[in-house]
Amino acid sequence: MTGSEKLVLSRGDITEATTDAIVNAANQGLVGGGGVDGAIHRAGGPEIMAECDRIRAEKGGCPTGTAVVTTAGRLRARVVIHTAGPRWKGGAKGEAEDLASCYRACMELAREGGHRSVAFPSISTGIYGYPVEEAAEIALSTVAGHLERHPDAFDEARFVLFSEADLEVYKRALDRLKEGSPDSA
Ligand code: APR
Repeated sequence: MTGSEKLVLSRGDITEATTDAIVNAANQGLVGGGGVDGAIHRAGGPEIMAECDRIRAEKGGCPTGTAVVTTAGRLRARVVIHTAGPRWKGGAKGEAEDLASCYRACMELAREGGHRSVAFPSISTGIYGYPVEEAAEIALSTVAGHLERHPDAFDEARFVLFSEADLEVYKRALDRLKEGSPDSA
């Protein structure tokens, strides 16, 4: 898949990413929480929650599979894109579609905002319990598909994995995606 050339994998803390946009694995209420969400609000400061409060008041929140944009506060990124991933319930409750929808919605908002680089965490694979092997495949193929459809819009889509084990899973999934690419034949 040609879009996969712009996918970058790294290990670390997403709050330190220097991409134009960073993605938050949030919840439908945009009320904050642990994991990446807690780290982003702590590092970015109260301005981010103030905008989440406004969005909640206006739209009721962020339904699963959708995304909203706020300031990035003190973070180096220009914006935070908050998305609510699905909770894992065994796989037969539309989790895969919802997870793909999160990545698509984030890429669409990034593109609409003219953000040429975006950093993602591994949405839903922490507190929400989505198996990381399956999530990695959906994450990478969905983002690569968007990059392929919009070849001039982005310089980079980065995945910032918190653990070495998750990074290895994503690396293997990316290798498989590239092997499946007609360009690599
Ligand atoms: N940078 C990058 N990745 C991180 C960071 C960080 N600073 N902190 C945690 N992670 C990783 C986790 O290890 C996991 O692999 O992000 C992945 C997603 O985990 P969660 O943050 O738990 O997100 P999710 O599974 O989508 O659950 C969302 O958790 O924090 C609450 O408010 C949030 O209710 C929502 C739920």
